[in-house]
Amino acid sequence: MNHTIEKASVEDYAAILSVMESWNMHHIPSAEMEELDLSCFFVARLSGHVAGAAGYKVLSPDKGKTTLLGIRPQFSGMGIGRDLQNAMLDTMYNAGIRTVLTNTDRPETILWYKKHYGYRQIGTLKKICNFSLPDVDHWCTLEMDLDAYMLKER
Ligand SMILES: CC(C)(COP(=O)(O)OP(=O)(O)OC[C@H]1O[C@@H](n2cnc3c(N)ncnc32)[C@H](O)[C@@H]1OP(=O)(O)O)[C@@H](O)C(=O)NCCC(=O)NCCS
Repeated sequence: MNHTIEKASVEDYAAILSVMESWNMHHIPSAEMEELDLSCFFVARLSGHVAGAAGYKVLSPDKGKTTLLGIRPQFSGMGIGRDLQNAMLDTMYNAGIRTVLTNTDRPETILWYKKHYGYRQIGTLKKICNFSLPDVDHWCTLEMDLDAYMLKER
């Protein structure tokens, strides 16, 4: 089964929330996550269904942030997360962004970001409402040098 990565459309909104619900990341809008800007979202489609989704936000001319990335658990380990993350990174890089921030709380995901993208932890941030892991009360703030990654990896 092959997946495709596409820009999200308004029709994908409910499916994106359903993907995020698998990871308790569907509390949107909330104090943790503002309303989704679907113009900055990608979906991974598999047999016509949304198997994963990812969104980003431009913070300044050279700084961006990934806001959400989630894959339905039954489709993990197939490279869909990498393809969605790469779609966001390519788009941000082409828009002039050179540093990318990501807040996350799952230990295995933190390792995934560090291993594949060279992120390093630059701080922590207290959560302000229930989002993602319910028993973890803070985010690890990770930063990625997008310029270095593009020169080395792509
Ligand atoms: C983190 C997350 C996005 C990763 O997505 P994924 O699709 O499972 O990840 P990938 O398949 O791209 O990569 C996972 C592994 O599979 C490997 N892989 C890539 N293509 C593959 C393929 N065709 N077949 C088998 N394995 C493959 C990757 O090399 C990677 O290896 P690793 O174990 O050495 O890291 C996903 O697990 C997730 O949704 N997690 C919960 C939500 C979350 O924490 N989101 C991020 C914070 S907002």
